Amino acid sequence: MLKGKKIIIGITGSIAAYKIPILIRSLIKEGAEVKIVATKNALEFVTKMTLETLSKNKLYYDVFDKDNDYSTEHISMAEWGDVLLIAPASANIIGKYANGIADDVLSTLLLAFTKKVFIAPAMNTGMYNSFPVQKNIKYLESNGISFMAPAYGDLACGTVGDGRMEEPEKIVGALLEYVNRGQDLKNRKILITAGPTQESIDPVRFITNHSSGLMGFEMARICAERGAHVTLIAGPVNLSIAMPTVNRINVVTANQMRTVCLEHFEHNDITIMAAAVADYMSEDISAKKIKKQPDKISIKLVKTPDILEELGKKKRNDQMLVGFALETDNELNNAKLKVKNKNLDFIVLNSLRDKGAGFKHLTNKITIINKHFSLKVFDLKPKSKVAVDIVNEIIATYKK
Ligand code: C5P
Repeated sequence: MLKGKKIIIGITGSIAAYKIPILIRSLIKEGAEVKIVATKNALEFVTKMTLETLSKNKLYYDVFDKDNDYSTEHISMAEWGDVLLIAPASANIIGKYANGIADDVLSTLLLAFTKKVFIAPAMNTGMYNSFPVQKNIKYLESNGISFMAPAYGDLACGTVGDGRMEEPEKIVGALLEYVNRGQDLKNRKILITAGPTQESIDPVRFITNHSSGLMGFEMARICAERGAHVTLIAGPVNLSIAMPTVNRINVVTANQMRTVCLEHFEHNDITIMAAAVADYMSEDISAKKIKKQPDKISIKLVKTPDILEELGKKKRNDQMLVGFALETDNELNNAKLKVKNKNLDFIVLNSLRDKGAGFKHLTNKITIINKHFSLKVFDLKPKSKVAVDIVNEIIATYKK
């Protein structure tokens, strides 16, 4: 139910606006109060009369509307709403929001709105996949904005591809999931590691791996949304996160990650070690660039500290520790050994043998194995959804 929730729908100019009247009715059926903001272009696709009749509220579509109670409607509206949903969202509104432009009702409201924003894009496949739109989406996502990825199918321009606005029932489902999720991690302190580490060989080269850091960053975002204070220790990654309750600390090497982890571990309730820490580092880091040799060269590698194992030894009864395992063979047995040897509450296993899982994908397929060796197998899903599954499992285990 969405009882008592105040939802603002911002509509932009896209043919998918024809689905919004159905969305309004579904939200009201779930008990929500709905107010609508429409750009001028949106009103080419859906009428003021329809929107006002269904939402039972006055439509806000003109910054300088003389009928408004007072002239700062975008501020009072921003205070009123619990959630702002932009649907359908054009490339234009996404670009304006990502760049802080406020030149009409909706873009002005977006900047004034400080609570949860959802965006359901609708546009031609080429536009959606264009580098500026993708860059803007990534930037907004890293700042806690949730996107409802457009579906694949027939587009109004006559082509078939990604770009159809998500169906109203799926949008309602996502809002229900968000609202019902609540603040179940309120004031919990959570330590998360993410990304790879880099171990230098000389001033020019280093050893690393393909980890993007996405899983760890997604979990940090979800934990913060659910009320936690997160310390995110990140190796070198190409991701950003700008949420007030996420404290990001950047590190480069396994040794640096260990130092920061040890400093913070005792102050946290839950620790999630999603980083792909290098297992080996060069015994000596050459001060000068190693010159090209006529034949083979050898570099002596020594083990890095196993941070997770060390934390497992320090873990108190009131603390929870979660590890990750990426395996290519004998997956279950290897993962079970790690749960036991590293004193974990559970381990998140992904196998490179599963199609669509691992480093190079935006999707992942995981199995969670707890300390009693019971298994939960999950389907292949986008990493943002996998992160929700892991956080849900943490909450269920932490409460026991
Ligand atoms: O033993 P393995 O490296 O496969 O274990 C993976 C888990 O251990 C991950 O949670 C990773 O963050 C952690 N790890 C660590 N220190 C290392 C290597 C891995 O904490 N040196």
